[in-house]
Formats: sequence, structure tokens, C-alpha cells
Amino acid sequence: MSFKIPNVSLSNGVKMPIIALGTYARKAEPGQFRQAVEWAIEAGYRHIDTASVYNNEEEVGEAINNKIKQGLVKREQLFITTKVWNDRHEEKEVVPALKESLARLKMDYVDLYLVHWPVSATPSGEDMKIDHMETWRGMEEALKLGLTKSIGVSNFNEEQLTRVVKKATVKPVVNQFEINPTLTQHKFVDLCKSLSVQPVAYTPLGLISEARPEFAGKDVIKTDPALGQLAEKYGKTRAQIALKYLVQRDIAVLPKSFTKSRIEENINIFDFQLTEKEMSIVDGYNIDHRCVPGTTLKGLTNYPF
Ligand SMILES: NC(=O)c1ccc[n+]([C@@H]2O[C@H](COP(=O)([O-])OP(=O)(O)OC[C@H]3O[C@@H](n4cnc5c(N)ncnc54)[C@H](OP(=O)(O)O)[C@@H]3O)[C@@H](O)[C@H]2O)c1
Repeated sequence: MSFKIPNVSLSNGVKMPIIALGTYARKAEPGQFRQAVEWAIEAGYRHIDTASVYNNEEEVGEAINNKIKQGLVKREQLFITTKVWNDRHEEKEVVPALKESLARLKMDYVDLYLVHWPVSATPSGEDMKIDHMETWRGMEEALKLGLTKSIGVSNFNEEQLTRVVKKATVKPVVNQFEINPTLTQHKFVDLCKSLSVQPVAYTPLGLISEARPEFAGKDVIKTDPALGQLAEKYGKTRAQIALKYLVQRDIAVLPKSFTKSRIEENINIFDFQLTEKEMSIVDGYNIDHRCVPGTTLKGLTNYPF
């Protein structure tokens, strides 16, 4: 590895590598998550993003523990994030949910525990209407018990995030939400920063990688010559330019890949710098398009979008 991965400093003083391997997949073969995480650690990733609902914590943990056993990394050099699902939002449920994640990961602690969505529902989908501050007290307890080093939220909108920040005893250090060149989120990113909440971009490649037919026609970013020329200038790909654009805005990124060459490609973005004009070219692709609208959660109390 010939480059150094920058950290961002969270408001509690903890340092978090600015790039992580994302691990959500609609479909996966057995062993695919384990393999991807092992390739990622070999390629230099020190930050992995998972969630209880991804059903992969066992494989993610196995990969990490393999790499620790092989002596490639130490646990304290890694930054591991997982998330509490919508059916465990009662205050008394948060700590047990995290303990179950830790048992699957075979770890004593995670580095960051997030509230995955601002909605709460039973496993069969019934609205539980739980106040965020109730869930947050459970998150604070998990922190107090040392089961996680930091706590944060995901998919909280402007109003929801501001309320938790104002009312919490321990403030969320992160909000993880969709940000990419076709959903640039400037206003929300500025708000997060003004609240000392680190923005973390999920689906950072957005329409560059999305192959869903319903998005066809919105994905000119895949073929537009201006981005092609920019990529060519630096000897990079469109995906690398998209990730670099986010990192230069001090936004952490979580690209997911099962492909070894892409896992290596996505972290190889720290040897060039986009100019201000080039940043505005990428900004120009914004169409406020959400790849992840959380449609199945629509109708629940506190649906954020
Ligand atoms: N908090 C939340 O609610 C939430 C929601 C969504 C996502 N996330 C997190 O964010 C992570 C990333 O989001 P995502 O998986 O939706 O989207 P993404 O990382 O933007 O895109 C993933 C897709 O891009 C492809 N890809 C990866 N690198 C590429 C490259 N260099 N060139 C071209 N294509 C490339 C992957 O294909 P291959 O795998 O076939 O290589 C995969 O199909 C997730 O895995 C998860 O950890 C969180």
C-alpha cells in the first residue's frame, strides 16, 4: 500500500478512517462477505460497515478475526461499525441487540453503533412509534458499558438529527445517509457539520453503479464525457472520481464491492486532488435522486424522507 488513509476526527475525539468497505448486498453467496472483507483488509481498509439486518456479521467477524490471527492487523487498528435494527428501538432492547451483534462478530466492542433508521416496527412491520430519545438512552447505556466506543444515527433527517443533538446527554457523532454526485446534499451536510456530526456517505457511487431499470435515463453520469475526461486526466475511473469528490468534502465514504479489483480501486484515491473547478463539475450532476428511498418503511411514524 503506497498511500496513507486519512482519518476524520469525531466530536468525541475518536478518529475514524475516511473510507470503509460497505457490506450490504441484496444477494450474496455463502463466503462472499468474508472474502470481500479479507480482500479489503489486505488492500489497506481499516474501517468496515455492517449492520444486524445485513445478516453478515458472522462472516464479517470471521474475516476480521482471520486477519488478526494472521498478524496483518490488530483489533485496535480497525474501526468496526454496526447498527441496531428497527425492531429493537425500546430502551431495554438496545444493549441486548448490540450484545447479539458482538456475539456474531466475535468481538468485545464495536467502534461505532448506529440507530439504522429513525422508524421503529415489529418484525412483522407493525408501527411501534418509539420516540428517538427512548432509543437514544439505550444507545448511551451501550456506550457506558463499553460495548461501543461511539454512538450515532443513520437516515435521520434535518429535524430528527437536530432534536437528538439538542436533547441527548451524549451527542451522536455520526449521521450516515445517502450522498453521491447525483444526491449532493450540500445543505444537509452543512447542517451536520454545524452540529459537529460527521456525515458518512452510503451508496457513494449512486447512479454510477446502479443497474436498476427504474433508474435508466437518470444515469447520464455513467456516460457523460466531462466526467470521462476528468477520470482520464488523473488516470482514474468514474467511481474513483465520485469517491474522491466526497472525501474532498470531508465526507466519509462506504463503497461496497464483492470484486477484488474494485475493492482495491476504490481505496486508491489518495494520490490526486480535484481542483475547485473539477469539484463543481461533479456537483453539476446533482439531480436530488435517491437510490435508497426506504420505500418499505414508508407510512411508519418518523419515516424520514
Ligand atoms: N445506513 C443505511 O441505511 C445504508 C443504506 C445503504 C447502504 N449502506 C451502506 O453503504 C454501503 C454502500 O452502499 P451501496 O452498497 O448501496 O452502494 P455503492 O457502494 O455506492 O455501490 C455498490 C455497487 O457498486 C458496484 N461497484 C463497487 N465499486 C465499483 C467500481 N469501482 N466501479 C463500478 N462499480 C462498482 C458494486 O458491484 P460489485 O459488488 O459487483 O463489485 C455494487 O453493485 C453499503 O454496502 C452499506 O454498508 C447503508
